[in-house]
Amino acid sequence: MLLGIMGAMPEEMDKIIAAIHNKKIVESGSRVYYRGELYGQEVVAVFSRWGKVAAATTATNMILNFKVDRIIFTGVAGAVSPELNVGDIVVGQRLFQHDMDARPLMQRFEIPLTGKASFETSKENVDILSLAVSNFLENNKEFLQLLSGQGIAHPKMLAGDIASGDLFISSSKMKHALVKNLPSVLCVEMEGAAVAQVCDDYGVPLTVVRVISDTADEKAHITAIGFVNQHAGDYSLSILKEYISLIHNS
Ligand code: ADE
Repeated sequence: MLLGIMGAMPEEMDKIIAAIHNKKIVESGSRVYYRGELYGQEVVAVFSRWGKVAAATTATNMILNFKVDRIIFTGVAGAVSPELNVGDIVVGQRLFQHDMDARPLMQRFEIPLTGKASFETSKENVDILSLAVSNFLENNKEFLQLLSGQGIAHPKMLAGDIASGDLFISSSKMKHALVKNLPSVLCVEMEGAAVAQVCDDYGVPLTVVRVISDTADEKAHITAIGFVNQHAGDYSLSILKEYISLIHNS
């Protein structure tokens, strides 16, 4: 089984890439892919760049050229649910493209010619990833203590809907407009639903895990950059470690 690991920013991927053994580096389509073993699991890892198109072309390359059997997307997101704080973790269930709007030809958010307004990750994948995140929160007391010293106390996990779009949500006005139209959405990012569409086209299972880096408001850019620089890599690698140990034993 070959696991594809994607993240949109170098800071989200650097620690994962550094932990891969017997690395082979392949450059293709303006991306650098790292093939090797992570915690005993065959993987190919890549930093996809930001946005739906970059993520979709990278996922397609992962599937067609590297022949990955499943993909996990890891990275940060802005919270739109008031239940979420910086440092909390979201496991994606349904993935919406919040900037898709072909009205009046189609219903708002409908992905043309799919009859769907969202792509759903399987319950089994959501359950495995949720367990991996719970194990991460259980097994990393030292890291949690460090976070607590920096104002991130008791991070929690929620499984739920994620919205992706080619927009960095950086004002309360933008956030509220999005929530008004997609009230079930917990957080926003710029890639997950694009990768979900590619995975749906090719029948490749996908899981998406997002750590909250900001609350998608006027301070989002400052909070997000600070969080990404300090913590995103540690979260991603530690969650991946737990996830791999579970898929190995399943
Ligand atoms: N990724 C992290 N924070 C985000 C935000 N506020 N909007 C879109 N993508 C994000």
